[in-house]
Amino acid sequence: MRLPERVTICEVGTRDGFQIEPDLIPTEQKVEVVNSLTAAGLERIEVTSFVHPKAVPQLADAEEVMARITRRPGTVYAALVPNEKGAARAIAAGVNAIHTVLSASESHNLANVNMTVDESLAKLGAVLEVAARANVSVGCGISTSFGCPFEGDVPVDHLERVVAQLVDLGAAGIGLADTTGMANPRQVTEALERLMPRFPGIEWTLHTHDTRAMAIPNILAAMACGVTNVDASIGGLGGCPFAPGASGNVCTEDLVHCLHAMGIATGIDLDRLIGVSRRVEQIVGRALPGQVIKAGPSTRRYPVPDTVGPRLSRA
Ligand code: COA
Ligand code: ZN
Repeated sequence: MRLPERVTICEVGTRDGFQIEPDLIPTEQKVEVVNSLTAAGLERIEVTSFVHPKAVPQLADAEEVMARITRRPGTVYAALVPNEKGAARAIAAGVNAIHTVLSASESHNLANVNMTVDESLAKLGAVLEVAARANVSVGCGISTSFGCPFEGDVPVDHLERVVAQLVDLGAAGIGLADTTGMANPRQVTEALERLMPRFPGIEWTLHTHDTRAMAIPNILAAMACGVTNVDASIGGLGGCPFAPGASGNVCTEDLVHCLHAMGIATGIDLDRLIGVSRRVEQIVGRALPGQVIKAGPSTRRYPVPDTVGPRLSRA
């Protein structure tokens, strides 16, 4: 396999994850998690979202979280925004980057942000302008890029048209999001092999959900196409409140473990990251879907059983 030597992971657990938690997480615990993720070496963190507080009450404290986190120079603290109002709030709160949201499918866009795709594109044009004036970088995410829970298949031709419209508006980064885990590795490869040469200079990100256990295979497929930016959630938290059947993102520590096992650098300290995941399990009050937190890393060794020891020493 031809894979990149380094991958940048954007941690989205405090946004994509915390947004669907049933119990309100205290602001100070959100701040604690962001700070521990920073300390574990995450270079990019999607801290929160600046959306309507009635749409996502869990993240109504976005300003306060941004104001209270301890920032490490060089780490990018981003937030999700759907429109200019969100962009203005995010910029006032001092984000380093804006991640916009728009769906490839009309029905999911209407369910998620109460706008048609065209209405969203008009708002995102304004977001890109506001952000450029404030010197804040923008990554444009496309939800339901590989399939929609309402409409089913999203053909690559259609996805390409949405990408083209964002690029025309001035997007420099595009995130392809598999909102409900419908993508498969061949589909990811075919989409990227089509899109990457058509939009040279665009920075691509893959945003996966592990709803059907295809997140890491899909990430490997994207990496083989040259994608080096990937979103992930601590513990495998995550899910869109406006997409039925949505479940968690690819688990950050499982992904980091997989990448490190293959010799691919992330800049992240896996042991510290597992510690953050344990703390997040305490905060949300349940076990999360991550595997490495249960199994330990593949370098873990167990004592040889007593029955085997004597034969092993004679062998
Ligand atoms: N933050 C806070 N308030 C906002 C806002 C934002 N980003 N965008 C709009 N509003 C306010 C407006 O100021 C207006 O307030 P008013 O009634 O006091 O004048 C009100 O919301 C309605 O504005 P409108 O543009 O008609 O918004 P809407 O009701 O159609 O909602 C969204 C559109 C995008 C704001 C809303 O659907 C939303 O926040 N969705 C969140 C989606 C999400 O986070 N999904 C999960 C992540 S993928
Ligand atoms: Zn998501």
